[in-house]
Amino acid sequence: MQVIRAVVVSAALWAPTVSASDTVTDPIETGRTLYDAHCAACHGAELEGAPDWRSPGPDGRLPPPPHDESGHTWHHGDAMLFDYVQRGGQAYLDDLGVEFDSGMPAFREILTDAEIDAILAFIRSTWPEDIRRIQAERTEREEQD
Ligand code: HEC
Repeated sequence: MQVIRAVVVSAALWAPTVSASDTVTDPIETGRTLYDAHCAACHGAELEGAPDWRSPGPDGRLPPPPHDESGHTWHHGDAMLFDYVQRGGQAYLDDLGVEFDSGMPAFREILTDAEIDAILAFIRSTWPEDIRRIQAERTEREEQD
């Protein structure tokens, strides 16, 4: 009897902890889930990009680049990355007057601003410390422009 009561008591104490951790959502985890659903098909499950991503394919478009440290995503500040995802590559490059046929879709109608931020936070979280520092500096400089 004693033993059974002890088990019941400890289960009751434990239960609130379990439900609390279920409701806490880590933005990086949210970003990872959204990345898997919306970006991984092109940019790779491990953010590795397409093989040979530097050479245009038969359609003249560049293949999806990696978002890991081997790519150039981290060469850009947060505002540029956000804009590129939200409006898509074509609108972004048209604004710059760059003649370019982009294969990067716009996610404005698909993802909220917070969801795009979460995906970018997840991508940043995969970079080594020194790269994160350089990219943070670019973001700061971008804010001063
Ligand atoms: C249909 C394939 C496709 C999907 C899906 C896709 N991308 Fe892209 N993305 C590309 C291509 C191709 C490029 C290369 C540049 C271009 O063509 O504009 C690119 C470029 C980018 C860039 C610029 C990277 C750099 O190094 O300058 C970012 C940032 C980016 N994508 C983020 C995302 C995110 C975040 C998602 C998911 C929400 C996503 N992409 C989904 C194809 C895709």
